[in-house]
Amino acid sequence: MKSVNTRRPDISSINWFHTIDLGNGVVTPGDDNSPVKLKRLAFPPDLSGKTFLDIGAWDGFFSFEAERRGAARVLATDSYVWQGNVPGKSKAGFLAARQWLSSKVEDLEIDPFAISPDRVGHWDVVLLAGVLYHVKNPWLCLERAASVTRELLIVETLTDLRFCLRPAMALFSPVKRGSDPNWTAPNVKGITAILRGCGFMKIAIIHKTGLGRALAAAVRLRSPHYSRDVAPPMPIDRAWTFPL
Ligand SMILES: C[S@@+](CC[C@H](N)C(=O)[O-])C[C@H]1O[C@@H](n2cnc3c(N)ncnc32)[C@H](O)[C@@H]1O
Repeated sequence: MKSVNTRRPDISSINWFHTIDLGNGVVTPGDDNSPVKLKRLAFPPDLSGKTFLDIGAWDGFFSFEAERRGAARVLATDSYVWQGNVPGKSKAGFLAARQWLSSKVEDLEIDPFAISPDRVGHWDVVLLAGVLYHVKNPWLCLERAASVTRELLIVETLTDLRFCLRPAMALFSPVKRGSDPNWTAPNVKGITAILRGCGFMKIAIIHKTGLGRALAAAVRLRSPHYSRDVAPPMPIDRAWTFPL
């Protein structure tokens, strides 16, 4: 008789990013307040029968949430963190959480720029959260995500230049180059223009940082030690003929 390994991996030895509820009072101690981010994302409450692609899944919080909401198939993809480019971080969290949750979420190590219909097929709902500002060519990255989206693309990203009236994008050349620097941040008009350029007909800005906080960020930006945490999630409905 084959023995089945039902032992759950030790989660205390993992350097978590996401805060994932693994059940029975066990929650992963991630740096990220994932449940709050989830609330801002306007994630479809019911994903029954839908296919869901998570680009840049890291520990998989959103992939597991999509499965919990009934998605018929979920694919978690990542490359940068999973391949060890951020010191101390890895794919271990995703693998451990999947085992703890007895999840059927699939995984594929693939760079966001390699995403294409040939490589991954098409997906009803695609999530691109927290990735765009880490890449030097966000327009191309969005085009890759758009190329595999059937119904809804949900984008969450950093924005800047809030008080600029034209579509614009801030460019950063980090003085202290960490392992995962931020390179770009469009303003809301800018991301809207890029998404239109990618073929999206209907774009909804679901969450935007409050004005007070945006003003404070604009002031902070004048500091040479500039840092900020402006991250408005923006779900984009591409095909309104196939609404969720
Ligand atoms: C802030 S995490 C976001 C994780 C998750 N999507 C979320 O929103 O909570 C950034 C993600 O982008 C990926 N990433 C970071 N830098 C990247 C790069 N230069 N090229 C491709 N992917 C990158 C990481 O592997 C990681 O999955």
